[in-house]
Amino acid sequence: MSVKIFDTTLRDGEQTPGVSLNVKEKLEIAKQLDRLKVDVIEAGFPVTSEGDFKAVKKIAEEVSNPTVAGLARANKKDIDRAWEALKAAKKPRIHTFIATSPVHMEHKLKQSPEEVLESAVEAVKYAKSYTDDVEFSAEDASRSDKDFLCDIFEATIDAGATTINIPDTVGYATPQEYGALIKYIKDNVPNIDQAVISVHCHNDLGMATANSLAAVENGAEQVECAVNGLGERAGNTSLEEVALSLDTRFDYYDIKTDINLKEISRSSRLVSHLTGVQVQPNKAIVGENAFAHESGIHQDGVIKERTTYEIMDAQTIGLKENKMVLGKLSGRHAFKQRLEELGYDLTQDELNSAFKRFKDLADRKKKITNLDLEAIMEDEISQV
Ligand code: KIV
Ligand code: ZN
Repeated sequence: MSVKIFDTTLRDGEQTPGVSLNVKEKLEIAKQLDRLKVDVIEAGFPVTSEGDFKAVKKIAEEVSNPTVAGLARANKKDIDRAWEALKAAKKPRIHTFIATSPVHMEHKLKQSPEEVLESAVEAVKYAKSYTDDVEFSAEDASRSDKDFLCDIFEATIDAGATTINIPDTVGYATPQEYGALIKYIKDNVPNIDQAVISVHCHNDLGMATANSLAAVENGAEQVECAVNGLGERAGNTSLEEVALSLDTRFDYYDIKTDINLKEISRSSRLVSHLTGVQVQPNKAIVGENAFAHESGIHQDGVIKERTTYEIMDAQTIGLKENKMVLGKLSGRHAFKQRLEELGYDLTQDELNSAFKRFKDLADRKKKITNLDLEAIMEDEISQV
């Protein structure tokens, strides 16, 4: 089995507070997403600004392998604008949405469930008059009534939706609960076989990746995510976490993606550079420390056999190698290896004495660099 990866770095990802990308930057990221081999690029929300409209249009014109999607609320004006931007795409998709939870319908939309269902059906039919590929999202699905969700999905699939998306818009769901919701929809929407089931999770409680994977185990066929987990508030499901979880634990999930894993690290760096959002050092997969070892016991283990403390190979995501960080917890083995890389071949006594100096320095200084090691060695040599 396989799942499609729908990347929303350029739409929900751009909703990260403080992030604004111009047309050139969005195109550059879209070209990298193409190299990463995502199935769908959600390029933007064309009605929101002239700049976003131009960016979606440019991406639609220039990026032809993935499907290019544009977001639109469930009204004609948004859908017209989305189509205007998307129409040059080789594979265009209109993604239309409306909220289905009681709190959103009552306070935000001020519409009854019947009115919401009618707007959704009208929107899908209208989008369908432009293109065959129409995605419908029930915003705040995880806080919506399950049977109302089934009704709205059945009706929108009848109206022509080819993908139905079940967002955990506010990151409220837990993995078991969200997995069960996906299964419920799969089991209770009679025409579900005519559409792809998609999931879209936010990370407010730090569970976006776990929720997306639980959904996949329960029948989701498309995962919406963003590079570096960017997105509104605490962000969206992180693309790299989903791709590497499915790859590393293929023995468990038995599910493939088409993602070109070697492009993961480059994609992360490009998105971080152009958005100005730094990746936290301990971020899974793409954080600076994700393939770094500091303690002596771990370093010794990895030098003897990499898989003692690594479940993934740094090269899988396009990095050159893992890293041994020298600090006060590091051991003799990694210290010796680093000195050898720097060209020092030491006797046992020389090593013992240099190692003692290194430990003294490491007690005072958090990170020991190659320059520090060279200084230690110059001192050693001058004392001979
Ligand atoms: O989080 C959400 O519900 C969304 C929809 C527009 C898909 O981003
Ligand atoms: Zn979202």
